[in-house]
Amino acid sequence: MKVLVTGGLGFIGSHTVVELQQEGFEVIIIDNLSNSKIEVLDQITSITGVKPQFEQFDLLDKEKVSNFFKLNKIDGVIHFAASKAVGESVEKPLLYYENNLSSLLHVLQAMLETSQDHFIFSSSCTVYGQADELPITESAPIKPAESPYGNTKKISEDILTDTTKAHSFNAIALRYFNPIGAHPSAKIGELPIGVPQNLIPYVTQTAAGIREQLSVFGNDYPTPDGTAIRDYIHVVDLAKAHIVALRRLIDKKNKQKIEFFNIGTGKGSSVLEVINTFEKATGQKLNYKIVARRAGDITAAYADTSLANTELGWKAEKSLEDALHDAWLWQLQQK
Ligand code: WQD
Repeated sequence: MKVLVTGGLGFIGSHTVVELQQEGFEVIIIDNLSNSKIEVLDQITSITGVKPQFEQFDLLDKEKVSNFFKLNKIDGVIHFAASKAVGESVEKPLLYYENNLSSLLHVLQAMLETSQDHFIFSSSCTVYGQADELPITESAPIKPAESPYGNTKKISEDILTDTTKAHSFNAIALRYFNPIGAHPSAKIGELPIGVPQNLIPYVTQTAAGIREQLSVFGNDYPTPDGTAIRDYIHVVDLAKAHIVALRRLIDKKNKQKIEFFNIGTGKGSSVLEVINTFEKATGQKLNYKIVARRAGDITAAYADTSLANTELGWKAEKSLEDALHDAWLWQLQQK
């Protein structure tokens, strides 16, 4: 079976391509290389022994997207391609709305034009904002987005819902919690451009001496140790969730035309717990200091994953320690 992975050279996309190939799927990647490197294609090939078909173009080019679907009969699409830096989205909202929403619209329109189906969408727990109840279930209220990035995820979910209502079209939105780590081979991983915004790449770059010191954004949250809590999920576990979701659609096992699943570990970890676990997993002492909270951060988020466990038959298998260890091995591979 042939699967299109948009953004397939990115962090989560590349790990998903590896799992797809290892499950015997034929993979085509479309990536515009705006936030990824072409070397990732060879690294994927070196892990699986199979080179994915690669098309370099921008999904904003509606004609190219339309022609692609006219030329290719696809069994399913996993759509990662999007801009994803929360802070940047606040500074450049129109760039985010155009890139994330127009790209999605072009893919959906082309799929409908060519009667193609089975769409897996990369969504985010950010749609919940600061949930009123923890752990967070899929029926938790969707809150006003804290950033244009988060709003593009919410609007994209609405676009998908309306598309499945109006057409013979089936979709699953996976709401990721915090993806971290790297492939155990250390051949692919997170490639932040510039100063990392996310915690784990900043931790590994500090341990590697690339950054002077990690700033812990606030220790005055109403949590056991005062630092904010997140659900950190190994990127390989997250990648595997996409395969089971895709199979569910292809095998027509979905119970609604659009379904939503929280993809996390179900366990919350504070920033200080992450630091302590990193030091234990790697033997590296981490230089950090406590500073003021970061604007827009929520206190705590971790998933109720029972729906994915029962409906998808999927459960995260790797621990926080596994993910931090793999992130460190990947960091050591960086030049
Ligand atoms: C995690 C925790 C920070 C950096 C965002 C997006 C989400 C997804 C993942 C794209 C927080 C603290 C961080 C640092 C710190 N993005 N922190 N020092 O904000 O939970 O989620 O990234 O898909 O949609 O919202 O992730 O890694 O930025 O922060 O103390 O240098 O680490 O305050 O508590 P976040 P994060």
